[in-house]
Amino acid sequence: MDYLLWPGQPFRPQALPKRQSMAHRVKCCHPLIRLFSVGESSKNGKCGDLRKGVMLSDDPLRLDSSVGNSVVGRFFAVITTPMAKATITAIAHRGASGWAPENTVAAFDAALDVKCRAIEFDVRLSADGVPIVIHDETLDRTTNGRGRVADACWLDIRRLDAGSWKHRRFAGTRVPALEEALQAISEHARPVIELKVRIDERMLLDLLRRHDVLTQCVVMSFDADVLEALRRESTELRLFLLAENWKPDIAERCRRMSFSGLVMPFAAWALDRALAAGRSVEHTWAYQVNDAAEVAACGAMGIEGVITDYPDLIRPH
Ligand code: G3P
Ligand code: CA
Repeated sequence: MDYLLWPGQPFRPQALPKRQSMAHRVKCCHPLIRLFSVGESSKNGKCGDLRKGVMLSDDPLRLDSSVGNSVVGRFFAVITTPMAKATITAIAHRGASGWAPENTVAAFDAALDVKCRAIEFDVRLSADGVPIVIHDETLDRTTNGRGRVADACWLDIRRLDAGSWKHRRFAGTRVPALEEALQAISEHARPVIELKVRIDERMLLDLLRRHDVLTQCVVMSFDADVLEALRRESTELRLFLLAENWKPDIAERCRRMSFSGLVMPFAAWALDRALAAGRSVEHTWAYQVNDAAEVAACGAMGIEGVITDYPDLIRPH
């Protein structure tokens, strides 16, 4: 079976059968196309010459029985296009959450240690209305506490251990308040604040002004209403819409609502989508990018920012 690739039609992972019992051939029919393999490979761990993140070939790539008959690898055609980004910004996802407990000052410091210039973190409200940095709706996964964040008072949350679940060397690490996160990050990197819930817009804007990051930071949310409420209070703030999936009108909606960025999972992006988004919003970012080949694919699509658990995946520029 042959797969033909050409600019404008990136090779989607779904196009490759999960199980291959016969030889397959992927042909590049454009000189600027390079193939990368990403993700998992064969069950027995052998994947022939297909190494994660390694440029494979200019020539048609033959996937044959030497690769095994249980290849489940995903393949991307990386197309070197005029809109390709020479530099991509790494945004540390919940801090450097690959190495340190997510959404803690330890994770922010770990990201700063590798010269990461943008750090994402999640914000919720405690029962007494303090904006705090935690991802989940409950305390259970990332602290030694139990129950809903929204039902716990800040002073009780503050006493919890938010580090031991990751590794015992992080024992005693605390859930930070938003204020503390801004203190840790603002002088060194761009805070990228994901609002998991709506918080009082004026309170947030005051806090951002006090830390002198109103025009530097990015505020993101999956909830467009949360961003719209902020836009009504400030025209300066950079607001990015998070979306789990592409919809044909999504970029145009961002433009209409004066959002400056669109952020989607890597798997939701494709070249045509990135091009369409680029016509409507200033910034396009991808998340769940933890692989060098996926970074390369983002660059080729013109996506400028990748949100990653391993911010050293990209050299600072
Ligand atoms: O950065 C985007 C990403 O943070 C959204 O997903 O679940 O990690 O907050 P989540
Ligand atoms: Ca997040």
